[in-house]
Amino acid sequence: MNGKKAVSLSKEPHLTYSSPVASPPVLGFRELNSQPHETFAEYRSVVPFLKREDGAHLLLRGHDVQRFVKDPKTKQLETELLYARGITAGPLVELAANSMLFSNGEVHRRRRQAMAKCFSFSVMERVRPEVRRLAQGIINSDAHAEGFKLRDDFAAAIPAVTLAAILGISQSDIPLFTSLAYRVSKVLTTSWGAEDVPEMEEATRQLVSYCEDLMAERRRKPQDDFLSQYVASVDANADLSPAEAVMQLVSVVLGGTDTTRAAIVIQTGLLLERPDIWSAIQENDSLIAPAVAESLRLEPAVASIPRLVVEDIDIEGHMIPRGSVLLLSTMSALRDPLQFPHPGEFDLHRERPRWHPVYGDGEHRCLGQALAQVELEEALRALIGSRRSLRMDNQTLRVSGHAGIRQVEEIIVQFA
Ligand code: HEM
Repeated sequence: MNGKKAVSLSKEPHLTYSSPVASPPVLGFRELNSQPHETFAEYRSVVPFLKREDGAHLLLRGHDVQRFVKDPKTKQLETELLYARGITAGPLVELAANSMLFSNGEVHRRRRQAMAKCFSFSVMERVRPEVRRLAQGIINSDAHAEGFKLRDDFAAAIPAVTLAAILGISQSDIPLFTSLAYRVSKVLTTSWGAEDVPEMEEATRQLVSYCEDLMAERRRKPQDDFLSQYVASVDANADLSPAEAVMQLVSVVLGGTDTTRAAIVIQTGLLLERPDIWSAIQENDSLIAPAVAESLRLEPAVASIPRLVVEDIDIEGHMIPRGSVLLLSTMSALRDPLQFPHPGEFDLHRERPRWHPVYGDGEHRCLGQALAQVELEEALRALIGSRRSLRMDNQTLRVSGHAGIRQVEEIIVQFA
């Protein structure tokens, strides 16, 4: 161990981290983005976190990520990041100031409660047949007889059309709704700069106004659907301001588009690169759920969870001062060998925690987890069950980003 003190933190006593030997290094965006898995693996055993050039602290180890996602010394970021980028008013600030995604404590509970029941596992199981029809419909469409664009024709359509169906959006509005959803959801990625702000603000303004109109319509003419129930419960409890009521709807659209699109491309790419596992799932569809979970572990669609430090944190002698931004790297944690032995292997049968860490933990744990699972499983079922075999000639899965929602490149899949 080169004289380093061993720190055993695992249930597996033979595996240890080396104790920190130096200050956690500062790395630039470019370095972090170039080979994030390799970089995390290199540092994870010697330092608990990396500092990013913008001052954020990237926590690398499974047990630290688990702890600080819900530790009282941290809280969810509210409008701080927008303010830090000089955005102090306008639609993005309105969104952040009223959304469950960017709030804490009682305010967060009140906002989340209004939606929570509508996205429970049992309610989402009722949506499953519709998602299955949708996914199979895309695969079997005449327009895709030769093949299709995995990301834009298939993966993007599933969350957008599913959310449109849940919200009762008419067929003719789906293209508009889809385009707005993807333009606004960019705010949850790290891949936007000052030049993108006017476009994101405009898309947010339009999506908010679209959701307001939808709610007003259900108020006038209630139907037997999710949105009418939501409007009725918001009106009956009067717990939410009108801005809050609409922003929870926008938050669901925001949380549920880019994430699932990326995850569908990733899981399909990973599995097409592993024909033996693809065949095993074709023969036994009970392997679909483990394949989805293992894909999310190996190459997560969301790489990190942000938190703000509200009280100084000491991790193995390294101080992270109050006011710092933490990026809890689920991407690194999900390959921490102390929690996932042989982390680089795609293992359908590995032991996994009951609640997948990719969805976070604590009060902000993903509200859409049940929906995401239904969408990811049904997307895979449709592809696996297709009568013809799929291939992605001479292409590889390309996923970029070391934090936030990750970006995926297009893959053209062809039928053999
Ligand atoms: C693979 C797909 C998905 C992944 C990996 C994912 C991941 C996450 C994570 C890590 C969080 C916690 C953020 C935090 O603690 O700061 C979260 C929150 C959230 N997600 Fe997802 N998500 C996915 C799909 C969805 C879907 C389909 C929806 C749509 C309903 C959704 C809606 C939300 C919402 C509204 C929140 C905020 C919850 C709160 O702050 O209380 N997500 N998601």
